[in-house]
Amino acid sequence: MGSEFHLRAVVTGETYAPDRVRYRADDGGLLEVALDQSSLDAGEMRRVLQDRLAHRGGVTASGVWRYREFLPPIPDDCVVSRREGNTPTYESDRLAAFTGVDGVRVKHEGCNPTGSFKDRGMTCGVSAAKWLGQTSVACASTGNTSASMASYAAVAGMKAFVFIPAGGVAAGKLAQAVLHGASVVQIEGNFDDAMRLVQEVCAEFGVYLLNSINPFRIEGQKAIGMEIAQDCCWQMPDWIVLPGGNLGNTSAIYKGLRELKAVGVIDRLPRMAVIQAAGAAPLHAGYIDGFAGEPRTVHGPDTIASAIRIGAPASWVKCVDAVRSTEGLVESVTDDEIIAAKRAVDTAGIGAEAASCASVAGLRRLASAGVVKRGDSVVCVLTGHILKDAEAAVGNYGIGESLADGAGVSFDPIVCQPTLESVRDGIARELGGG
Ligand SMILES: Cc1ncc(COP(=O)(O)O)c(C=O)c1O
Repeated sequence: MGSEFHLRAVVTGETYAPDRVRYRADDGGLLEVALDQSSLDAGEMRRVLQDRLAHRGGVTASGVWRYREFLPPIPDDCVVSRREGNTPTYESDRLAAFTGVDGVRVKHEGCNPTGSFKDRGMTCGVSAAKWLGQTSVACASTGNTSASMASYAAVAGMKAFVFIPAGGVAAGKLAQAVLHGASVVQIEGNFDDAMRLVQEVCAEFGVYLLNSINPFRIEGQKAIGMEIAQDCCWQMPDWIVLPGGNLGNTSAIYKGLRELKAVGVIDRLPRMAVIQAAGAAPLHAGYIDGFAGEPRTVHGPDTIASAIRIGAPASWVKCVDAVRSTEGLVESVTDDEIIAAKRAVDTAGIGAEAASCASVAGLRRLASAGVVKRGDSVVCVLTGHILKDAEAAVGNYGIGESLADGAGVSFDPIVCQPTLESVRDGIARELGGG
């Protein structure tokens, strides 16, 4: 199978055999999977992909492996899947009003099996690990990657090590990793420290690295873009807006869409808008300077959105290509803007974790600046589930704090004695009658 595809250095174009463990080119640059898709026919692919939407079992029931002609040809018996993907795309009048964009839709990747988009990359990454004969896996994580990897490693019967920044991971995500049986390596530093160390340890101990520098991870995550295209009946929106941290997701969505376009399944690329948190925005700094010079680093990144609290993004080069090739852009938003967007997403009945809502906050900012027009069609990616980061919500809304922003949320509990009279009084007061 090794001859059917290869790994290619994104900068130099140098190629490597895919059936040996390798995460980087000889010069240290990023790799991508290169697969010959020239024999694929656009009409036939659209028909096949549409038919597979009805599959209820087998590998192609997954919203990732449905696109298997675009993925590395890993044999079925090595595929480790939890039927990830197939996530909903919602329209919302409330979010249209909040963002100022009538045609806004949100693709809710929090509806994946472990509650984040990471499952799409992980099914491919852990399947590659199995195909390569690996028995142990590791990642550095702000939380969601570790939850996802722990789950898929458990399904595959592999030993899992998750490297986390001490105090930098939401409790729910950490609990997921622990409950799925992963060993937690807690680094007294930030995510960037954990990322540096996990690479060294994986090389030394022969543990398979499953961060998004692993090109197989990116392959699975391509399916977000492909599924957005399919959700939109192959008519691409004007914009895809998504949060950016380590930048693997932007790179992956772009690669998927680029490949669909090359085959002719879609006829144009949407513009990609990457939104970073202002306290962790190296890509935004680079964008402002026209991406001149070396990748930027933010030392001590700081934001309430812990999932994107990353100062030295690994997939910089791929992401810059995505932004440039789609005439995209990079924006940054403050924590207050993220919280306001989270309130809007939550009170619209959809709900998502704070980092996810950076996309909605970014869209609002871009629309108010006139960059995105009211009539543009836009898909915002919501990357994680509302329950992922409860501390960020509770800590920042503050139980008992009154919210004067019109979002209609109150975290003041109606405290009652266990009597009907007391409850009746409380409800009447809330309804304004008492
Ligand atoms: C919920 C959530 N949103 C966004 C991101 C950022 O994705 P990426 O690191 O691929 O840019 C992450 C990364 O961990 C995440 O967990």
